[in-house]
Amino acid sequence: MTAQDYLYAALDQMDPEQALALARRIASHVGGFKIGMDLFNQGGPDVVRAVVELGRPVFLDLKLHDIPQTVARGVQAVRDLGVRYLNVHATGGETMLRAAREAAGSRLHLLAVTLLTSIDAAAAAAIGWQGTPQEIVERLVRITQSAGIEGYVTSGEEAAMLRRLAPGSVIAVPGVRRAKDAVADQRRVVTPAQARRAGADLIIVGRAIAQAPDPLGAAQAFVEEIAEGETA
Ligand code: C5P
Repeated sequence: MTAQDYLYAALDQMDPEQALALARRIASHVGGFKIGMDLFNQGGPDVVRAVVELGRPVFLDLKLHDIPQTVARGVQAVRDLGVRYLNVHATGGETMLRAAREAAGSRLHLLAVTLLTSIDAAAAAAIGWQGTPQEIVERLVRITQSAGIEGYVTSGEEAAMLRRLAPGSVIAVPGVRRAKDAVADQRRVVTPAQARRAGADLIIVGRAIAQAPDPLGAAQAFVEEIAEGETA
């Protein structure tokens, strides 16, 4: 793995044409791409296939959460698109996670979202989830592991905890900013070097690349900072 392989550019807040133009422009300078519900709901499977064709791994961020059979069918449909990663909500429960895992086969890797970073202690309590956010995450990791899913999406701050709870798992970290970038609406941000040191395998960067005046230069700068995290 090179430092570049860790960098995943999120194609957010664009229409499919703009997203594809950006993806083509930066494909040789990133490790992969993330497509979320924003772009997927506009461009559907066609835009996913077009990004996959650029030859970089794609993470489809659809956060599936439904009854097991429905999720299994949704996963099967994604498997045929050629993406490498897809995520599901761990709060869907162990039977749903197991059904997703079975449907994914060996080429599509599933990542679990444990607790959304937008859910704080008060929001979790209002839903009826017991314990501190950390205790909730620990329970969800146990369920996820017993379903055979070996990857997670998590904040940079929690990445080290997940590494400890689930050694050997694939960890994707969004909310990554260089010190000079605007934090925007992200509350818990880490730098690329911190994310890498915490064990992130996918370092997900959206606006700081997509909305930069020079997206290619921004991608290169992120790669350099990831490399610093590798050596430090
Ligand atoms: O623009 P920015 O770098 O903040 O984009 C981060 C990407 O990661 C967005 O696609 C966002 O939906 C996603 N994400 C996040 N925080 C989470 C989970 C996913 O920002 N906790």
